[in-house]
Amino acid sequence: MRILLTGKNGQVGGELQHILSELGETTATSRSELDLSDPDQIRNTVRHFRPELIVNAGAYTAVDKAESEPEIARAVNGIAPGILAEEARTAGAVLIHYSTDYVYGGEARAKPYLETDSTDPVSVYGKTKLEGDLAIEKSGVPHLIFRTSWIYGREGKNFLRTILRLAGGQEELRVVDDQIGTPTWCRSIAESTGQIVVQLLKRGDGSFPETVAEVSGVYHMTCGGRTSWHGFARSILGLADPKPQPQLVGIPTKDYPAPADRPAYSVLSNAKLKATFGIALPDWEEALRYCLRSDV
Ligand SMILES: NC(=O)c1ccc[n+]([C@@H]2O[C@H](COP(=O)([O-])OP(=O)(O)OC[C@H]3O[C@@H](n4cnc5c(N)ncnc54)[C@H](OP(=O)(O)O)[C@@H]3O)[C@@H](O)[C@H]2O)c1
Repeated sequence: MRILLTGKNGQVGGELQHILSELGETTATSRSELDLSDPDQIRNTVRHFRPELIVNAGAYTAVDKAESEPEIARAVNGIAPGILAEEARTAGAVLIHYSTDYVYGGEARAKPYLETDSTDPVSVYGKTKLEGDLAIEKSGVPHLIFRTSWIYGREGKNFLRTILRLAGGQEELRVVDDQIGTPTWCRSIAESTGQIVVQLLKRGDGSFPETVAEVSGVYHMTCGGRTSWHGFARSILGLADPKPQPQLVGIPTKDYPAPADRPAYSVLSNAKLKATFGIALPDWEEALRYCLRSDV
């Protein structure tokens, strides 16, 4: 199988590179090799490589910066997925794409979101990601959209690395304790994606696109459980045990002003993923433990 991967230097993209190359002849691209803000480049690249599977791990993920760069965020998150989807459909290929818990509003909420719940993004990033999801759905391509949340890993820009860096130099860390969600290790996402592709390749009598068409749609894909950013920081400090330990102070969102609003609650139910593919990612604290023990 010929596979085209975008965003190979990202958290999920980096993990996917190894996994996908075991499954087929994989062309992994970075922003300099395939700029998702350039529609012609997307079309030419897909037509050149003629992939049977496109995995789009590239995205504009700077949530705060997106508020002042809405056009570029929209080009990458909102428009590019639709072009990838159209090209994939024309070529008879399958598209796997990643979306976010930030498509939900999270206002006055206390129970995990289902894929059927209505979306209500409160930021430019969330709005542009939702636009991308809708464009893929509209295209009619056989697709899987995995909505995930609070991604971290040993590489890249993420909350885990920020806390470990700050822990070394500060006596006190003030972290928001009234946003509830689920930290998700990028490796768990990539491994689950690989398992699902393997399963679909083996399943059914039809071709791979036909098999995927039967299960096309949005799936939540996060680690299990829930916490706040403060709870996440507490676990990081407890497990990594930096010396000296900074004092961790919980603060409300209103005391940590940021350009973009974020949902107060964005826990996602993974029941559909489990029911369809029999796959469940580890609990978030267990995954964090694995991540901190891993070399990379
Ligand atoms: N990070 C999170 O907490 C989070 C939460 C929920 C969902 N998601 C979604 O999960 C997916 C994977 O996220 P991630 O955390 O792995 O993201 P990431 O680490 O920020 O990686 C995104 C990758 O996309 C690339 N990219 C940005 N603009 C591009 C462009 N114009 N053309 C081509 N590539 C471009 C980046 O390239 P450069 O390295 O050159 O910048 C980067 O390598 C994304 O769809 C994201 O929206 C993320």
